[in-house]
Amino acid sequence: MRALITSKAARRALRPIVELIDQRIERQVRRAVGNTSTVRTSSDDALRQELKKLRNRQRPLELFFDGTGRGASRLPSAPHLNRTIDELAQVAGDRDRAERTVAQAFRLLIALEALGVGRIAGGTMNIVGKLSAVPLLDPPNDEILEIGTLYGMFGAALIRMMERAGRDPRLTIVDPLAGTQLQPGATMGDDVTGTPVRGAAVRTNLALAGAAGAATRIQQGFSEDPEVRLLVSDRAYGVIIVDGDHSAAGVLADLEWAERIVAPGGIVVLDDFGHPKWPGIKEAFEKHMATETRFTFLGQVAHSGYLRASA
Ligand SMILES: C[S@@+](CC[C@H](N)C(=O)[O-])C[C@H]1O[C@@H](n2cnc3c(N)ncnc32)[C@H](O)[C@@H]1O
Repeated sequence: MRALITSKAARRALRPIVELIDQRIERQVRRAVGNTSTVRTSSDDALRQELKKLRNRQRPLELFFDGTGRGASRLPSAPHLNRTIDELAQVAGDRDRAERTVAQAFRLLIALEALGVGRIAGGTMNIVGKLSAVPLLDPPNDEILEIGTLYGMFGAALIRMMERAGRDPRLTIVDPLAGTQLQPGATMGDDVTGTPVRGAAVRTNLALAGAAGAATRIQQGFSEDPEVRLLVSDRAYGVIIVDGDHSAAGVLADLEWAERIVAPGGIVVLDDFGHPKWPGIKEAFEKHMATETRFTFLGQVAHSGYLRASA
């Protein structure tokens, strides 16, 4: 029977009937579309109105997360978040803890930028990655050195994250605090926030991190300056964040210094590691790792590389 219907002769014989059915279906569809199109006009208007209302309501909520006044949007996609958690778990172990810490660091970033002066520099996942990785890597002591602070807001956030992990962070900062961000070979201009980079802004942000923030030692100057180095080389640091001069020569000089002042088992964070805008960082890292070094590369989370000094 099936062979009969599918045979060429049968199909030819049935063609007029099939065409008739097709025409009827087409007429029915046209009528239905015609009917709905009149209905659609009014419901379309209602939908459009509703959409407009929702958009208007959504805009102020977006201001909590978008890039207006801080450059980078703080609304990462779910795949970006998951990738950061995976990378973090690889560098610092335990996916569940990584996920929890990333969520806490993300909320902290939004809150501090809402309340503070200026901003934290860089992409959302890179900042969240650093804030999460440092406590998870369990540094050997609570002395932290941040080379290059901009507004001091990252330092404030890191203090909070360390305290959440039950630590008692003591932060030292080195930065020229020159009114704008200084970067050799790059024109930085006025900051996107409109706020000058100065000591008062740094102190206001650090005050948001309570007693440990207020107790932060701020050394104004350049990290390669021997006088500055002498003043802050009075202790072995459990954590050193290299985020000052981003040129290859600048990062190399900071890494050589870090070799001497990092505590046994200490962590060095190389910011903007592998960032296409700052090739000097990876270049300096490769040069430094080819020398006799105490550092072992632990891995990368977003655009930061993590090193641990031998114990
Ligand atoms: C990318 S920003 C730091 C961002 C900050 N760590 C954060 O996470 O928000 C770089 C800072 O390093 C400062 N800087 C530039 N050259 C420096 C140097 N040789 N020593 C110390 N800081 C330097 C810049 O002026 C700027 O304030």
